[in-house]
Amino acid sequence: MTHAVVVGAGGREHALARALRRDGAEVTVTPGNDGMRADGLRCVADGAVARSADLVIVGPEEPLVAGVADELRATGVAVVGPGADGARLEGSKAFLKRFLADAGVPTAEHATFSEVAAAQEWLRARPGPYVIKTDGLAAGKGVLVTSDLAEALADVAAKVSGDAFGDAGRTVVLEEFLDGEECSVLALCDGTRVVPLLPAQDYKRVGDLHTGPNTGGMGARAPLAAMGPGELAEVQARILAPTVRALRARGIDYRGVLYAGIMMTSQGPRLLEYNVRFGDPETQVVVPLWGPGFLDTMVACATGALDVAPTFSSGAAVTVVLAAPGYPQRPVLGGRIEGLGADGQPLAARPGVCVYHAGTRQTEDGGFVTAGGRVLAVTAVAADEATARDEAYAVAETISFEGRVMRTDIAARSEA
Ligand code: AMP
Ligand code: GLY
Repeated sequence: MTHAVVVGAGGREHALARALRRDGAEVTVTPGNDGMRADGLRCVADGAVARSADLVIVGPEEPLVAGVADELRATGVAVVGPGADGARLEGSKAFLKRFLADAGVPTAEHATFSEVAAAQEWLRARPGPYVIKTDGLAAGKGVLVTSDLAEALADVAAKVSGDAFGDAGRTVVLEEFLDGEECSVLALCDGTRVVPLLPAQDYKRVGDLHTGPNTGGMGARAPLAAMGPGELAEVQARILAPTVRALRARGIDYRGVLYAGIMMTSQGPRLLEYNVRFGDPETQVVVPLWGPGFLDTMVACATGALDVAPTFSSGAAVTVVLAAPGYPQRPVLGGRIEGLGADGQPLAARPGVCVYHAGTRQTEDGGFVTAGGRVLAVTAVAADEATARDEAYAVAETISFEGRVMRTDIAARSEA
């Protein structure tokens, strides 16, 4: 039996762990969370458990940037996740932009600054909207997109001074604003081959109709009408394939998920960013649609043997995230969650619907309280998107806690 270890503690890791278990793996999550434990998954605080695994999937980017995949590979463990060299695609926006220019991958025009006055001058010389990114990692919250020049100027000052994001913000990347539909194309790369998965869409802003600050993601859907086979082939040819060639040319043996954030502009697809891991909450819709063989495909990806493309069910999946009050700026934790059984799954069970735990703690009486900004993701799989949305919301409405933050427009009809 394959011993598979999932590194991480959120909804994404819960979805990955469930899929590995479905395929017959012995699964350990490190550190995991109470909701996974209630779901019968083994959770171990000490990350050293990964050293004795046959397969490790690293969920979050920080350990990858820190070189965890290199350490594990050095001891002979098969890992889904790039080494520190490949992880720089996500770890440094300035590195990414240089890399894309060398590789000829279409992306937004940009300039990099470490000095406030020069950055502000660049902004003043342009019409908005303005896009300002921290160079370093900021948990998905380091990007401001605004049409307000005064806000843009203030944001640059706050970032470069270190006040807003510490050292991660001292260098900023300013970008041309790209208009279009945003899609997440997660692809598997085995060092040589790159195979896109089912395209998905993340709802990044906290409020309905894409208002309010960016978050880690408030919901997702897959597949996408805006990214059919023709568009996906273009993404493969213009973005993914040249990226893998450029990685190889730099001697980088990239084995893991290459997650392309794509803007479908009137001029074709443009790369917004790369992430070097599974998306959260995209994983909560892509993995439940995966046909048989998730475990085998993960092993193939990690061992350089990705010669069979994964297959997906013909249906659709929608996930709705429930977040704590105050998310994303100042989440207030500790609220009692109603509507879950002692196994962490909804009392109002419906076929095709399950709950992935992101930030929950189980109390002695078997109940749950909120313990993270994003608390739960409610995923429904159905024959079509409208049914999946209705089913996900029907269950989400039965799970409540004080001040629950939930978008009501995930996969809304007007967006179809
Ligand atoms: P990033 O972390 O680079 O993906 O940026 C976070 C979000 O900001 C993206 O998902 C987009 O919604 C938005 N964004 C980033 N760059 C641009 C851009 N050049 N034009 C328009 N929107 C952008
Ligand atoms: N869904 C956005 C991310 O995983 O970065």
